[in-house]
Amino acid sequence: MTKKTALIGSAAVVLAAIALAPTTVRNSSAESIARHRVERGRYLVSTSACHDCHTPWIMGAEGPEPDMSRALSGHPQDIVLTPAPELGDGPWGMVASATNTAFAGPWGVSFTANLTPDENTGIGVWTEDIFVNTIRSGRHWGAARPILPPMPWQVYRQMTDDDLKSIYAYLRTIQPHQNRVPEPVPPTPGAGVAAG
Ligand code: HEC
Repeated sequence: MTKKTALIGSAAVVLAAIALAPTTVRNSSAESIARHRVERGRYLVSTSACHDCHTPWIMGAEGPEPDMSRALSGHPQDIVLTPAPELGDGPWGMVASATNTAFAGPWGVSFTANLTPDENTGIGVWTEDIFVNTIRSGRHWGAARPILPPMPWQVYRQMTDDDLKSIYAYLRTIQPHQNRVPEPVPPTPGAGVAAG
C-alpha cells in the first residue's frame, strides 16, 4: 500500500465514522427513551394503585395483600361468584369481592381487566394509541362502552402523554397471564343498589 492509498483509506474510515455517528446517537437515544419509559411506568404503576384492583388479593401474614405471582392479571376467571349482597336503600353503596377484583354497585358488577401482555385475554394486542385513548376517553378500548366504576380513569386521564405511554411501555414488559375476565353484569332492574 502506498502512503497515498493509506491516507485515502483512513480518510474513508473517518468519513464512514462521521456518517454513522448520527444514526448511532439516534438509536441510543431512542433506546434510552424506551428504557426510561419502562422504568417510569414501573414507578407509576406501583404508586398509582393499579395493583390494588388489577392484582387479585390473597390473605397474607399481615392481612389481605395483592398476590404478585398473578400481578395485574385482573379478576380471576376460575372464581365462582355468588350474587352480590343486596344493599337496599341504606348508606352502603358498593361491595367488593375478597380478591378486590369484582365490584357491585348501581352499575351492576364490574371486573378488573387483565393488563398483562397475553394476546388473547390481556392487552397484548393493544397499541399505545388504544391504551392512551382508553384512559383519556374513559371508554372500553378507547372507543366503545363507558368504563365502569371503580376504575379511576378520571384521575389517570390527568396524567401527561409521556406518563401514560410509560405505563403502557411497562405493561408490555410484565409476565403475561392467561386469564379471561368476565364481561360486566348489567344491573338487575329493581334489585336494589348492589345487583348481581
Ligand atoms: C379502584 C380500582 C381500580 C384501580 C385503582 C385501577 N383500576 Fe383499572 N379497572 C378497574 C375496573 C373495575 C375495570 C373494569 C371496568 C369495566 O369493565 O368497565 C378496570 C379496567 C381497566 C382497563 C380496561 C379498560 C377497557 O378498555 O375496558 C385498563 C386499561 C385499566 N383498568 C388500567 C388501569 C391502570 C393502568 C391502573 C393504574 C394506573 C388502574 N387501572 C387502576 C378498577 C381499577
